[in-house]
Amino acid sequence: MHILVTGGAGYLGSILTQTLIDHGHSVRVYDVLLHDGQSLLSIWGSPLFEFIHADIRDRKALRRALDGVEAVVHLAAIVGDPACARQPAEAKETNLDGSYQLLEECQRQGISRFLFASTCSNYGKMPDPDGLVDETSTLAPVSLYAETKVEFENAILAIDASSLSTTALRFATIYGVSPRMRFDLTVNEFTKDMLTKKSLTVFGEQFWRPYIHVRDAARAIELVLTSPLEKVRSEVFNVGSTEENYRKIDLVHMIEPHVPEANVQYVRKQEDPRDYRVRFDKIRSALEFQTTRTVEDGIAEVACLVRSGAIRCFDNPSFSN
Ligand SMILES: NC(=O)c1ccc[n+]([C@@H]2O[C@H](COP(=O)([O-])OP(=O)(O)OC[C@H]3O[C@@H](n4cnc5c(N)ncnc54)[C@H](O)[C@@H]3O)[C@@H](O)[C@H]2O)c1
Repeated sequence: MHILVTGGAGYLGSILTQTLIDHGHSVRVYDVLLHDGQSLLSIWGSPLFEFIHADIRDRKALRRALDGVEAVVHLAAIVGDPACARQPAEAKETNLDGSYQLLEECQRQGISRFLFASTCSNYGKMPDPDGLVDETSTLAPVSLYAETKVEFENAILAIDASSLSTTALRFATIYGVSPRMRFDLTVNEFTKDMLTKKSLTVFGEQFWRPYIHVRDAARAIELVLTSPLEKVRSEVFNVGSTEENYRKIDLVHMIEPHVPEANVQYVRKQEDPRDYRVRFDKIRSALEFQTTRTVEDGIAEVACLVRSGAIRCFDNPSFSN
């Protein structure tokens, strides 16, 4: 399949691009390189790889980039609550205006599949603290980031899907090592801080989130791209594993054996608008998707990276959004 990946130089995108090429797909990455493009150097020489340095807000560049493409995976975004709060205009222009423009161009040019990277943050705070939310639950976004994701999800699901098949994937919070490393994601951040600083302050340790390894997230995208259209058309899938929902305190307990001397302080918060435990049965039953790695595996992987000396300066701004 000939696939355009927007945001393909990013944390998930660089692993996804490699995964798609490993499966024999040809991949055109379209990215404005907010965090530079070194993440793509290992695949640069592949005959299945092409790169376009452009912004999704540039309609002319989008038109050219879609030539010959069968499927689009849309990852490009201002990613995360803090980044969107800091640059609200940029976030709306990219996550909404740029995304609408991309969707229109895909419809105009007869692309057959459109996958959108959404997020389980859309659930906000679960109504029943002892329950689990699923794809049918009410969405309660509590940040500009999640608001833009919910709005664009609604837009792709509302289009006439007879020519362009659209699918929204609500990813759990991702962890693990990627060529564009992010140390601002909870599992990666906690592991790095406990190992390098020997201390960590945790705000609201009792709040729940689901987690997924970056390679499993990429596998899920490849699976959806190659699944029969009738199984994925106009569908929303949570992407993760029901067994991999954890409270922040659980993450700390899993990291502690790697660094028993770390001093962890807890700052109790009574209220957190983001507190969600998610059910992932739908993607399992419809597409037989199962994760292959656990948070414990990811912690060991990140701990090994941190100890290895492969990264000299953890404060480098490129590791954070
Ligand atoms: N990382 C997670 O935990 C997580 C969880 C759920 C959903 N997601 C979604 O997955 C996608 C990828 O996330 P990530 O963690 O890899 O983030 P990332 O910030 O590493 O990657 C985003 C990429 O998009 C590019 N980009 C940003 N604005 C652009 C524009 N205007 N034009 C072209 N390219 C642009 C950036 O240069 C970057 O390479 C995002 O849509 C994100 O919302 C991520």
